[in-house]
Amino acid sequence: MPRKIIIDTDPGVDDTMAIFFALCSPELDVIGLTTIFGNVHTELATTNALRLLEIADRNDIPVAHGADNALTGPYEGPVPFVHGSDGQGEIFLPDPAGAPVDLSAAQFIVERLRACPGEIALAPLGPLTNIALALRLEPRITEWVDEVVLMGGNALVPGNASPAGEANIRNDPEAADLVFGADWQVTMVGLDVTLKVHMTPDDIADYATHGNPMSDHITRVLPHYRNYFESNYPAKGIFVHDSSAIAYLIDPALFTVERWPIRVGAQGLGRGKTWPGIGKFLRPPWQNRPLVNVCVDVDGRGVVELEAERLRRA
Ligand code: BDR
Ligand code: CA
Repeated sequence: MPRKIIIDTDPGVDDTMAIFFALCSPELDVIGLTTIFGNVHTELATTNALRLLEIADRNDIPVAHGADNALTGPYEGPVPFVHGSDGQGEIFLPDPAGAPVDLSAAQFIVERLRACPGEIALAPLGPLTNIALALRLEPRITEWVDEVVLMGGNALVPGNASPAGEANIRNDPEAADLVFGADWQVTMVGLDVTLKVHMTPDDIADYATHGNPMSDHITRVLPHYRNYFESNYPAKGIFVHDSSAIAYLIDPALFTVERWPIRVGAQGLGRGKTWPGIGKFLRPPWQNRPLVNVCVDVDGRGVVELEAERLRRA
């Protein structure tokens, strides 16, 4: 039986790859996309989610529009220099034919988890606002969820949105602290591992040879995103953030995990930093917090090859 997942997403170039990776993987059954601000405004995230499902010929999958702002403050704005002003590498797709469902993202998550207790994993690939709102709406979702596997955070390495914080967590640190503190199993697939998952120029070029709509779309959206990486990091090619969380859901054996409680810096220089509580004698504010599976190492080549293999046979 494939594992049911809801992907919470801000597409976004790497979100696009992650959604297609999940759709092409027989181990996973994507039962909904919920949208969030981050790489783009939530409105555009919803439009892009609908467009991506049309490219994948999966209009049967519902899309639910999420929060427009963080729990305690306004959205700080898109990052066109990373993902393009359209969130799709400046290729400007036509409008989608479909529309989102009438439920908010938080309502959608609660309703689906209530309907299938124990069966659905959440895969947040953006700021954690919708997940925190779902927790507020119905705290029992902690009992109903299978697992939460999120892309975000940085335990032992610097941030990317600031020297302290990773972009998804920094966009709503209060929401992230709620999610890491809730009584459910959270796995953090953060920069500690995603910066070890490297797609080379040869890996990227291979997508153009697959001959299917999803790989073709990836080939179209990647140049702008790749240019950002090559202007800011020494290596050629890209690092693979959001797809790494999908890889964990498919094959956790690719990852090395430590179990630590996580607190999130909310203000000042440390805003968005995910602080692991390392050591035996934990004091507040780490004391009595649930243990998070924090990914600290990864078979990076294994993740890149798994994704390529799934897209190749789409
Ligand atoms: C995360 O931030 C976004 O730019 C990406 O889509 C990814 O989810 C990486 O820090
Ligand atoms: Ca994302």
